[in-house]
Amino acid sequence: MAKICAVVSRKGGVGKSTIAYEVAQCLGAVLVDLEWDGGSVSRAWGYRAEERARDVLMAAIEHDRAPRPLTGFRKPDLVPGSPELVDVGLDPEAWADLLTTWAGEWGREWVVIDTHPGASASTHGAMAAANVVLVPTGLRTRDLDAVEQIVAEAADYPMVVVPNMVPRIPPAPEIKRLGAMVHGTPVRVGVPIPHVSKIATRKRRMAMSAEDPTPRALEDAVDGYRRLAELVKEYGA
Ligand SMILES: Nc1ncnc2c1ncn2[C@@H]1O[C@H](COP(=O)(O)OP(=O)(O)O)[C@@H](O)[C@H]1O
Ligand SMILES: [Mg+2]
Repeated sequence: MAKICAVVSRKGGVGKSTIAYEVAQCLGAVLVDLEWDGGSVSRAWGYRAEERARDVLMAAIEHDRAPRPLTGFRKPDLVPGSPELVDVGLDPEAWADLLTTWAGEWGREWVVIDTHPGASASTHGAMAAANVVLVPTGLRTRDLDAVEQIVAEAADYPMVVVPNMVPRIPPAPEIKRLGAMVHGTPVRVGVPIPHVSKIATRKRRMAMSAEDPTPRALEDAVDGYRRLAELVKEYGA
C-alpha cells in the first residue's frame, strides 16, 4: 500500500513547497502539486505550463485515470499543478479517493502532496488521504496563530508541526508557545529546519538533498530534510 504525506498550512510562505520537494526527493516519492497559482513547486522543478499542449492533472481528472508523473534528473517525479484546480468542483471525499487511487496505481512506497495554502476541498482531501500531515511554520506570531487554528480544528489527523526557517538562536517564547499548543493532543512537533538564506536565492532546480556533494551552505538544511523524511517514514509505518 502506498503511503501519502500531505504538506499543508493556512499561510503561504512558510516553506511548504520547499519541504514537499525535498522530502519527496528523500523518500523517492511521487510529488503531486495541488497549488494553483504562480510560485509553485512545479515551477521550481522547471515545468512550464504554457509550453505544454495538455494539462496532465486536469486530463487525469477528466478521464478518470492516474496521471503519469514527469521524470527529471536529481529531482522528484512530478505531477504538475494546474491553474484550473481552483474550480475543479470535486469535494474533499472525491479528492481523497482520487489521490488514494492514484497513489495505489503508481506503485511507489510514498506520495508527497504539496497543497494550496488555506482551506480548500483539495487540501482537505489530501489531509484525509494522508498517513502523515506535515505543517511547516515559522517561529513567528502570525505563523503560530495559523498553526493554533489548524491544531484546534484537525488535531485528530496524523499531524507533525515542522518549525521551519529556524534562526541560529531559536526564540524561546515562540518555542514554548508551540509546545503549549500541541500539549495534550496527538500532534507532534517535528524536526526543525534551519533558516538558510541561500535557499531563497537558489536558482538550481535539482533538489538540494540530491546535490552531490552537498554545498556547504546547504548542509544544515539538507540534514534537516533527511531527518524529516526519516520521521515521516517512522510516523507513517
Ligand atoms: N529553510 C529555509 N531557509 C530560508 N528560506 C527558506 C527556507 N525554506 C524556504 N525558504 C524560502 O522561503 C520562501 C517561501 O518558501 P515556499 O517553500 O515557497 O513556501 P510556501 O510553499 O509555504 O509558500 C521561498 O523564497 C523559499 O526559497
Ligand atoms: Mg507553496
